[in-house]
Amino acid sequence: MAKAIVNANRSKGHINRNIYGHFAEHLGRCIYNGIYVGEASSIPNLNGMRTDVVAALKKMGIPVLRWPGGCFADTYHWRDGIGPKESRKKIVNTNWGGVTEDNSFGTHEFLELCRQLECEPYISGNVGSGTVQEFSDWVEYCNMGGQSPMAEERRSNGQEGPWNVKYWGIGNEAWGCGGNMRPEFYADLCRQYSTYLRNYDTEHPIYKIASGASEGDYNWTKVIMERAGRFIDAVSLHYYTLPRTGDWTDKGPATGFPRSEYYSTLRKTFYMEELVENHSRIIKQYQGDRKIGLCVDEWGTWFDVEPGTNPGFLYQQNTMRDALVSAVNLNIFNNHCDTVVMANIAQTVNVLQAVILTEGEKLLLTPTYHVFEMYKGHQDARQLESYVETTLTGEGEDQVPNLHISASEGKEGVLVTIANLSDTDSAELDCALTGIGRAASVEGRVLTGPCGAYNDFGAEETVRPSHLAAEITDGGFKAVLPACSVAAFTVR
Ligand code: AHR
Repeated sequence: MAKAIVNANRSKGHINRNIYGHFAEHLGRCIYNGIYVGEASSIPNLNGMRTDVVAALKKMGIPVLRWPGGCFADTYHWRDGIGPKESRKKIVNTNWGGVTEDNSFGTHEFLELCRQLECEPYISGNVGSGTVQEFSDWVEYCNMGGQSPMAEERRSNGQEGPWNVKYWGIGNEAWGCGGNMRPEFYADLCRQYSTYLRNYDTEHPIYKIASGASEGDYNWTKVIMERAGRFIDAVSLHYYTLPRTGDWTDKGPATGFPRSEYYSTLRKTFYMEELVENHSRIIKQYQGDRKIGLCVDEWGTWFDVEPGTNPGFLYQQNTMRDALVSAVNLNIFNNHCDTVVMANIAQTVNVLQAVILTEGEKLLLTPTYHVFEMYKGHQDARQLESYVETTLTGEGEDQVPNLHISASEGKEGVLVTIANLSDTDSAELDCALTGIGRAASVEGRVLTGPCGAYNDFGAEETVRPSHLAAEITDGGFKAVLPACSVAAFTVR
């Protein structure tokens, strides 16, 4: 019997809904043919956006969407993507497969997508190959309500009012595809760009996110905070989970993986906690009186592409292993909600750890989708301290705690989410609720299956949430968590 405690007397604060954010790049079939099919498509759409994709994302709860990259952002010139579509420039997507980018999805289309999704836009601006003026104009184009050259241009392109875009990324991976910069150089650029990214409405101040570190590059965060901390609101962090150590040419398959790679992937997922804690510590050390947030604006699994698909398109399947990776990461972010203000899984549709896969007009929901949906109640809820007794499970050196938990108190009651990482053993759970009073009801849901199970086109959806029996006890509730599962309990 594993004992758990959820303590409503202690909290790190509220869980920013943006922790449940997503990322959509001009990469492979994420935007084009994934989200956006154009008005003329036979696939049902509203203003070019697939209606089935939009409906599924809304149901899952998408609070914020990051765009247009990724690496693409630092090659993107926003003016190429405005005005009549027929006269938009056709460019080469030099980062992702060398395909033609016809710019039919630009600023207006992205903000129309966010309107349909009822989510906040987060735009990454071009620092690597753009100019300060270009970026500054983009903010003015999006956010200026009165008269100005950019506001007039926006109106002439059909958008009367400002969109008031709050979140702006100052470049992406400036240490790599965003310009191969040294942190000292980027910190200066960040100060310069930040100076000219203006607020056009005091009621809608913009929120500036500096391009942050890759994984454990703590010096990056230190230098950015020390030199540019006064000019930003948050710093980002990117960390991808690969099953095999450090080899980007041989990452391992997304399906049909050996047991050892199930556990190595999970072990590497836990590294996120160390990264979040260490980067947060550095941020706190230099932030002074202003609170600077940590945005984990790229995270997720990165496997070999599916055989026969374009290597530049990063298309991979998604199994119960991905479900556990997302459950553990989301638990980590919830439990560090005092510093993690946003996180964006890479990427929404058809790329890396996607929540939705499409094939022509077909669509499927991945196990990762279901985890986000089951965790939705954590958004904007009050985080609660939680603890669960664990044993180690795994293979060889890849040992991980068998259980992982987070909890919150929101509109629907207390939500307790627990992952059982063991691929063989179920776990009996006895969860005590402190400071809550006796539960009137407890509702359990579970996502489970063999750790390699996935949903496929043309087959029944085998991985989907189902009811999980839970029994109210004097001090909380009891349940049995199946092997390889993610469970969510709502206690009222
Ligand atoms: O998500 C794919 C790529 O990974 C992004 O474009 C880049 O920022 C990161 O290296």
